Amino acid sequence: MKLSLYTDDLREAPVDLLAVGVFSDEPDRGLTFAHLNRGLDGALESACREEDFKGRPGQTLVFNVGGGLLAKRVLVYGYGPRAGYGPEAARRLAGEAARVALKVGAASMALQLTIPEQGDGEPQSVLALVQALAEGAELGTYRYVEYRTKEQRPTALKEAKVAFVAEDVQGIRGAQLRAALQKGQAMADAVAVARDLVNCPPNVLTPIELSERAKKVAKAHELAIKVLTVRDMERQNMNLHLGVGKGSRNEPRLVHMTYTPDKKTSDRVICLVGKGLTFDAGGLSLKPADGMMEMKIDMGGAAAVIGAMQAVANLKPGCVVHGIIGAAENMPDGNAIRPGDIITGKKGISVEILNTDAEGRLVLADALAYAQDQRPTDIVDLATLTGACMVALGKLTAGAFVREEDLAEDLAAAWKESGEAFWRMPLDGALRDQLDSDVADIKNLGERWGGAITAALFLQAFVDEGVRWAHLDVAGPVFSGKAAGHTPKGATGFGVRTLAALVERLAARTEA
Ligand code: BES
Ligand code: MN
Ligand code: ZN
Repeated sequence: MKLSLYTDDLREAPVDLLAVGVFSDEPDRGLTFAHLNRGLDGALESACREEDFKGRPGQTLVFNVGGGLLAKRVLVYGYGPRAGYGPEAARRLAGEAARVALKVGAASMALQLTIPEQGDGEPQSVLALVQALAEGAELGTYRYVEYRTKEQRPTALKEAKVAFVAEDVQGIRGAQLRAALQKGQAMADAVAVARDLVNCPPNVLTPIELSERAKKVAKAHELAIKVLTVRDMERQNMNLHLGVGKGSRNEPRLVHMTYTPDKKTSDRVICLVGKGLTFDAGGLSLKPADGMMEMKIDMGGAAAVIGAMQAVANLKPGCVVHGIIGAAENMPDGNAIRPGDIITGKKGISVEILNTDAEGRLVLADALAYAQDQRPTDIVDLATLTGACMVALGKLTAGAFVREEDLAEDLAAAWKESGEAFWRMPLDGALRDQLDSDVADIKNLGERWGGAITAALFLQAFVDEGVRWAHLDVAGPVFSGKAAGHTPKGATGFGVRTLAALVERLAARTEA
């Protein structure tokens, strides 16, 4: 999509769709709305009254223009209360506009850039808003049509203009604004990589295919990549990961991507580790049919890591970043691991397997051990790890288990910037004895209560002190049952933008 800036009169914007945002606590609906409404002889306000448009968050109204404006349609979008306005509201307006544009076959749109009152003249916030509009516009056009024989990827929407009053962004040069548009576009491209991977059916996206697609990303974006085969993993005693893979004819793989800066300005070494179960049938502890239906999404953490590595390659931070993916398929088979098996992996800790459906933590235990060999200062793992996390937080919010407070602060700042929904969860040591085994060092199953926490505590047993570590349980938000804002139905690409924002933030620190 072509992204540009627009500073002329919005009544004269020659576009198929014009999107304007209004606040729920401003009954006059703001200056831009009033200006358009006057051009339409009050018809826009009448339409809003008729449809009971209040500006509630995400509320939309599409108005067909008969004359008075050059635009063919106006989308009025509800930001909700002014106090809650920020980049995420702008991103959602743009995403909603893009989805309306696709539906009505609009080829061009203009998006109102609303500048918060307090943020006036604060260049950071204006650039973040411009980037968010670009992201939302691109993210909203995403559709997965790979396997539709009759439907092609819609190509109608070709252009988005970010519209603002020039005086409002005084002091910010056009070049900076255009760079923000470009950054938003690159970020949305990286999210689309993750969405494509998660949407891909599990008969196609096997662990080997996942590694092939990571290679393609690495090649296109000049990242180093190494793929460990079963033999390589045997040499490294990755028996937990291999064990999970044994129940499937599709061999497991460990993927290791590396970004190295041209000029190192920070001693941070960051490992992003993703759970890459291309399908999770549960193994011999087989899932019921209902629970299995969505299990192609069990590589959502890995997809986010691959997307984030692409984003990192674009952002060019000044520190080394590793992307490590434990890829496997969890199936029941004569050769599968059984409840009762004891397996010792790369870290030398013996694990009693009591439920083969708690496989993510087994794969991650070896991937985390591999990550520690890279001498990292920070490890962040992403995993669709537990249904319990969805019970705790719902489908829209990810659980963040963070061991070190300084990393927790940086992570919270990163998710505030990305607008992705995370909630800090406790690494409550009091639950640790649930994982005590009678016959091995640890078992892979705790009680029903606090299942997301005991899963995190299991992982923690495999991460040495002295490295900062965070575990993000993204089981809920990687996939969505309905479209809203910049998020389509299906894969969301959740995590990519937060990881990218985190890497940028950590790389800005010179000390390790
Ligand atoms: N991949 C699942 C978790 C999951 C469930 C992700 C639903 C997305 C949607 C994971 O491997 C799993 O099966 N976890 C079990 C753990 C249990 C056996 C301790 C669970 O959550 O039920
Ligand atoms: Mn499972
Ligand atoms: Zn799983």
